[in-house]
Amino acid sequence: MLGHLEVNPIMTPRSAPAAIEAQGLEKTYGASVRALDGVSFTVPRGTIFGLLGPNGAGKSTTVKILTTLSRPDAGSASVAGVNVLKHPSEVRRVIGCVAQKNGVDLEASARENLALQGRLYGMHGTDTRRRVDELLARFELSRDADRPARTFSGGMLRKLGVALGLVHRPAVLFLDEPTTGLDPVARSDVWAEIRRLAREDGVSVLLTTHYLDEADHFVDRLAIIDAGRVVTEGTPDHLKSELRGDAIHVALDAESSLDAGRQALSRLNGRLRDLSIEGTTLHARVDDGPSAVPNVLALLDGAGARVRTVTVSRPSLDDVYLKHTGRTFGAAARSSCNPRTSPRAICERCGASRCTW
Ligand SMILES: Nc1ncnc2c1ncn2[C@@H]1O[C@H](COP(=O)(O)OP(=O)(O)O)[C@@H](O)[C@H]1O
Ligand SMILES: [Mg+2]
Repeated sequence: MLGHLEVNPIMTPRSAPAAIEAQGLEKTYGASVRALDGVSFTVPRGTIFGLLGPNGAGKSTTVKILTTLSRPDAGSASVAGVNVLKHPSEVRRVIGCVAQKNGVDLEASARENLALQGRLYGMHGTDTRRRVDELLARFELSRDADRPARTFSGGMLRKLGVALGLVHRPAVLFLDEPTTGLDPVARSDVWAEIRRLAREDGVSVLLTTHYLDEADHFVDRLAIIDAGRVVTEGTPDHLKSELRGDAIHVALDAESSLDAGRQALSRLNGRLRDLSIEGTTLHARVDDGPSAVPNVLALLDGAGARVRTVTVSRPSLDDVYLKHTGRTFGAAARSSCNPRTSPRAICERCGASRCTW
């Protein structure tokens, strides 16, 4: 697809259907909110696949369609080889789904939550009890199994949410933002479990995230989704290796003339690639970053542009996002958040102090 020969991290037999196939999914809410504009991707079986995108990109809408909670206006999809539009109840039997706001009953205990889920899936007596005990042990919730879930920490609640999605032993697990809002320790606990599910139990996992570092380090493959479209797809390493050379980011003093700076740098045409401006920062890529820095600084100085910081690094997923969408992930997150009314916290997405997201 990307013009490169690429090997899946986990090969699946040719005849086995992919865990998930999405083809040209489109969805418009109301008259004009184009949530999905032709989303296509394939999730190989047994892999952890990430949908990475800022708030509003269309991740939850994609998950809702694949888990039969919503219908697309156009396109098709299958999960474990079963057509999502034609056989939704069959799809529901083979999937587990953990929504962004998971469905834990806070007044019930962890054990009661899990047992109820088992009953909803038609499981009976001993089988349910055994499965509930197994999941409580696996998610290290056995000691706390009988107290109300409202007394749980955020991390424990999230683990219980994931356990709920697994009661009926699904082949494909959907997790919508499984780690959002968790502290670093709880995040890494949840990740350890997700990896174990894929590696040891062969569960195929599709998860959404807006954390670049998670997409970079924990998923086998990812699709970057922006404004309802998959802009690129592959393993994190492959996506980064498509960007040759180093990434160079130059933050200019606010009063500096960006246009003069850009014009000056255009004299390095051919050496600097994909030059773009965001706020007061210039982004570009260059074959050999460290040796280009003196030239870049001299040209900017000559143009009267004052430099605050220069960063040279190997291309990151943020650079991949920038290349495909023309803006950095941070800028996309800020523009999609809503810094208006909540006086409480620093928004974990955009960093603003009063964001209503
Ligand atoms: N039920 C809905 N009604 C109207 N607009 C919606 C609805 N759900 C999502 N949207 C809009 O569709 C777009 C994609 O949303 P969503 O799939 O939730 O994105 P993400 O999960 O990536 O944040 C956004 O513009 C969002 O506001
Ligand atoms: Mg969402």
